[in-house]
Amino acid sequence: MSDTQSPEPKGAIAKFLAASPDSVGKTIFVAVAICLVASMIVSAAAVSLRPVQEANKLKDKQVNVLQVAGVYEPGINVTEAFAAFEPHVLDLATGEFVDDQFDPASFDDIAAASNPELSVALDDDPAGIGRKSKYRVIYLLRDEAGALDKVVLPLHGYGLWSTLYGFIALESNGNDIFGLQFYQHGETPGLGAEVDNPRWKALWNGKKLRDEAGDLQITVAKSQPAAGPDFYIDALAGATLTSVGVDNLVKFWMGDAGYGPFLTKLQAGEI
Ligand SMILES: Cc1cc2nc3c(=O)[nH]c(=O)nc-3n(C[C@H](O)[C@H](O)[C@H](O)COP(=O)(O)O)c2cc1C
Repeated sequence: MSDTQSPEPKGAIAKFLAASPDSVGKTIFVAVAICLVASMIVSAAAVSLRPVQEANKLKDKQVNVLQVAGVYEPGINVTEAFAAFEPHVLDLATGEFVDDQFDPASFDDIAAASNPELSVALDDDPAGIGRKSKYRVIYLLRDEAGALDKVVLPLHGYGLWSTLYGFIALESNGNDIFGLQFYQHGETPGLGAEVDNPRWKALWNGKKLRDEAGDLQITVAKSQPAAGPDFYIDALAGATLTSVGVDNLVKFWMGDAGYGPFLTKLQAGEI
């Protein structure tokens, strides 16, 4: 052994440090270190951005309430405009407000649908939602004289690929539709996602839920039902399955298992 040869490194760390940069150990070490640092950065970003995401989600929902009720204009102060809406927690079974039990400003009716105490499993489930919250947050809009102008009701149900979440706005008579729009879904752009097309959304304006006998007649279909044009929304071309989903969810939420008891009160002028 010559005098210039370096001594054998002793210990695992010393051996690791002395190894060639191309060694298997050092390559794995660097890869693991990069993964760890990257995952820490992603986690920190996700945690720190969550409040911003929640705020944006809330604002988006508020914009949708304003839009479906026809009071949205680009550039308006959304928080201020939304304050004109009166939120209430509605007991679906009785059609009564239960604001003394739940705070309408914070009650999360979508989360409540997964809470066994606040929801019911659906045997008859045309909207494909599995469970229904017993309570929903609805919004009343009054005119300047304080008279009821519109009601905005949340609804959701399965389309072809996804659950569509949206709102329907009704006139104060509880039967005439002012508008319907979805704020979240995963249907295919150009097909099912045409539910967002302003021309299709405009078809809802002025349609009626029930006929004079009180039967629910609103229908989304490829051809007009016997009840007539007042109750008919033309299905989306090339997206019959999403259209069937919308037909089902609207019928479910406007029917007895949904807002039926509330709409009966509204039509009787009791709200
Ligand atoms: C990639 C792909 C995505 C589709 N996305 C949708 C959709 O979002 N909604 C829908 O109803 N149909 C969608 N379809 C079409 C359905 O499979 C079906 O053909 C259609 O609903 C029938 O509508 P029509 O009777 O109006 O042609 C999609 C088809 C393909 C191949």
